[in-house]
Amino acid sequence: MIPVITIDGPTASGKGTVAARVAEALGFYYLDSGALYRLTAYASLKAELDLADEDAIEAVAKALAPEFKGGRIVLDGEDVTDKIRMEAVGVAASKVAALPRVRSQLVQLQKRSRQAPGLVADGRDMGSVIFPDAPLKVFLTASAEARAQRRFNQLKEKGITANITTLTQDLQERDRRDMERAVCPLAPAAGAKILDSSNLTVEETVAQVLTWYKECLAA
Ligand code: CDP
Repeated sequence: MIPVITIDGPTASGKGTVAARVAEALGFYYLDSGALYRLTAYASLKAELDLADEDAIEAVAKALAPEFKGGRIVLDGEDVTDKIRMEAVGVAASKVAALPRVRSQLVQLQKRSRQAPGLVADGRDMGSVIFPDAPLKVFLTASAEARAQRRFNQLKEKGITANITTLTQDLQERDRRDMERAVCPLAPAAGAKILDSSNLTVEETVAQVLTWYKECLAA
């Protein structure tokens, strides 16, 4: 059985950074499941589709054939690596992610990433739905203030100015939409270990996940 470590949690909790570093430390593959929702959203926005039109967005998800090459993401010949990180695409992603048939279309693509020697998968439902048999499930959280501050710093590094109050509000709105949706709402999976990283550095957070994984192997 190929091991999987799932890292789920709310927006800007640091899941992506932590998951990528844990994968690197263990020599495992890394699945950024949010990127698939972002790609679906990006392609749908580009085609000027109504984001509530489940038939249309399902067709986009079904046809999705992204290429992941050396840290870049190419969709239909276009390098979309940076474009899908835009806040507007994130907001659109959380809308298309609420459509049950869109989620179903993306299941196989996610399961296919489970390859030897192992996988670290980050998202919202990695531990609860996609890899329920994962030996280690982590639910990574942080206070809304800490997450808004991190997003602010991230944007600042990219030279984008932002407002902390607006960022906090956006974050809380996205949390609400992710937690209240009918399908796969954001919640810790059964058996998940909760890790609050509000007062932890990335290194400390990664170290904690690796310690849990060692304990899990020894058990
Ligand atoms: O970086 P951030 O946490 O803001 O977003 P992301 O992980 O890239 O995911 C973007 C959106 O996709 C989220 O707001 C979720 O609504 C959705 N998503 C999901 O529903 N299930 C997943 N496994 C991953 C993302």
